[in-house]
Amino acid sequence: MLDFLGNLERTHLCGEVRAADAGKNVVLMGWVNRRRDHGNLIFLDLRDRAGIAQIVLDKELTPDGHLKGEQVRPEYVVAAVGKVRLRDKDAINPKMVTGEIEIEATELRVLNDSRLAPFSPSEEAIQNEEVRLKYRYVDLRREEMQRNFKLRHEITLAIRDNLSQQGFLEIETPILTKSTPEGARDFLVPSRVHAGEFYALPQSPQIFKQILMISGFDRYFQIARCFRDEDLRADRQLEFTQVDLEMSFPRREHVFAVVENFLSAGFAAAGVKLPTPFPRITYDEAMKQYGTDKPDLRLPGLTDVRPAFTDETLATLNIDPALPVVALRIPKVGELSRKEREDNHPMFDLKKGAKFIDDFKRLGKSFPEAAAKARELAGAADEDFVIIVAGDPAHHIKASDTKFEGRLSEREINVYAAAGNFRTELAKKYADRHGAFSVTEKTVVDAHSHNATDAIEGGAAFNPIWIVDFPMFEYDLASGKWMPAHHPFTAPYEADMANLVSDPASVRADCYDLAMNGLELGSGSIRIHRKDVQQQIFKSLGISDEEARARFGFFLDALEYGTPPHGGIALGLDRIVMLLAGAPSLREVIAFPKTAKAMDVMADAPTTVSDEQLKELHIRVALKN
Ligand code: AMO
Repeated sequence: MLDFLGNLERTHLCGEVRAADAGKNVVLMGWVNRRRDHGNLIFLDLRDRAGIAQIVLDKELTPDGHLKGEQVRPEYVVAAVGKVRLRDKDAINPKMVTGEIEIEATELRVLNDSRLAPFSPSEEAIQNEEVRLKYRYVDLRREEMQRNFKLRHEITLAIRDNLSQQGFLEIETPILTKSTPEGARDFLVPSRVHAGEFYALPQSPQIFKQILMISGFDRYFQIARCFRDEDLRADRQLEFTQVDLEMSFPRREHVFAVVENFLSAGFAAAGVKLPTPFPRITYDEAMKQYGTDKPDLRLPGLTDVRPAFTDETLATLNIDPALPVVALRIPKVGELSRKEREDNHPMFDLKKGAKFIDDFKRLGKSFPEAAAKARELAGAADEDFVIIVAGDPAHHIKASDTKFEGRLSEREINVYAAAGNFRTELAKKYADRHGAFSVTEKTVVDAHSHNATDAIEGGAAFNPIWIVDFPMFEYDLASGKWMPAHHPFTAPYEADMANLVSDPASVRADCYDLAMNGLELGSGSIRIHRKDVQQQIFKSLGISDEEARARFGFFLDALEYGTPPHGGIALGLDRIVMLLAGAPSLREVIAFPKTAKAMDVMADAPTTVSDEQLKELHIRVALKN
């Protein structure tokens, strides 16, 4: 039999009762976390958002409460009325914040029962994530999840407040809209009123925020939901949240200052101090030093050890002498067994013109001098693991044989990128075993307690870095066309504009990324504000006038009505929270995420809909078996 709540009022949250409350009458409400039956005494651990308190049901004091205590099971919802008392010395639990007290109950009301879930929220997360997501309501009761969402709330609040203080207005932009230019697939929503026509969900508020600048709002921001139909990964969801902003008349330094300010506030809300200003690196330098445009600064960078090898040695090793010979060093890995070394081989991607030489153990046997020199150049200590990645002379790419003045060639980039991939893969692989590289729980905990130690070689737990001077265009071999490296509204460097037609590869974009710990946290640019430049860019990208009009006509029109120079950025809020929570995936910091198969397994979406609904939407489904 369940009890009614009646006029009972809660006095405290379970996790809030302290020794100082001893002697007070309290009413607590929550979920039964655990029940221990000692005959005449039943102990209930009662849990709510704030924590757990121990309720004692003494048969003598409350025979009725004791009887109910015999019947309740985990996750039943109960109200306990009673008095706070100090525990006996030997019963004190120093691990619990409420461990010094217990509630001597005078009454227990069973407000609801609960079916037995496939897992208990009082235990560690189970491995089967699909089951966790199907019973997400139970999963979210886990302390870790409660903590993650509180953290998310606090970070978001701090960022919102900070941006408001920096003069930004939060303005909402439409969800039912037209296709936006972020390069992923759109989610489409059929229109009932306009047969055969579709809205698109925004991949970002990009065009609208630019229009808000044309409208004179000067500084806009939005904690904006974005939708992209792309393959899911640990750091990618179909719908996600951006801290999106745009400002008028800025140079990129102004955007950086705004971001450093609000991000520091967000991190401070999680107890982490970010040193500002964040370092900057050009795209080419990032590729050279880290083999990626989202470098993880917690690991040592790459070293070009070409000088360690003579041309002869390279010829014997069948290595392209004109390309960089890149050493990557993973600290403190120690000796690897032969099997471990061989296990690494499949990771080496030879397709892109990069080849893996060997770890130093074997190279050292044939070319001890070169190996020693290369290790020295890479700054390797004895217990460090070093691998060399170099160019495959047999590999040629048409466009890449052209080297653009002052820029890395595509073949060079391929070698660096391959080395960069191995660097992060191997670091992940050896992290836990050797402590070479890790955001261990300890690091995160230390960071949270304002004590970000240098647990990782060479740096702190959270390492932001700006990547600047991206190329404006990337040559797409398949289509033989120049593609925008960012989106097509990104402004070229004013100084490079004269080369737009004659030498597109040399044109730098005034865009920037923010990376942290190997993740792309944010991306933005100074925008094109003049119609003539915009038309020129479309032309360089091979976008015809008709296509441009069909896709962005309204925006091109708006550009003609007094558009100020403007620029902005968007940061992935989910990614920020994921980093600060020390979580392995965005799914740990999004309340109701999609699975890797793009499903909401709890709500069972997507699903088929009724014929009537389809008819109303003028849609016929053609399924091939
Ligand atoms: P971009 O497409 O680079 O830029 O996105 C900005 C940031 O949003 C986050 N992000 C994602 N997070 C989770 N799941 C996804 N599928 C996902 N896609 C992107 C990343 C990324 O850095 N309109 C431009 C910004 C601008 O130019 O102002 C834009 O959307 O952290």
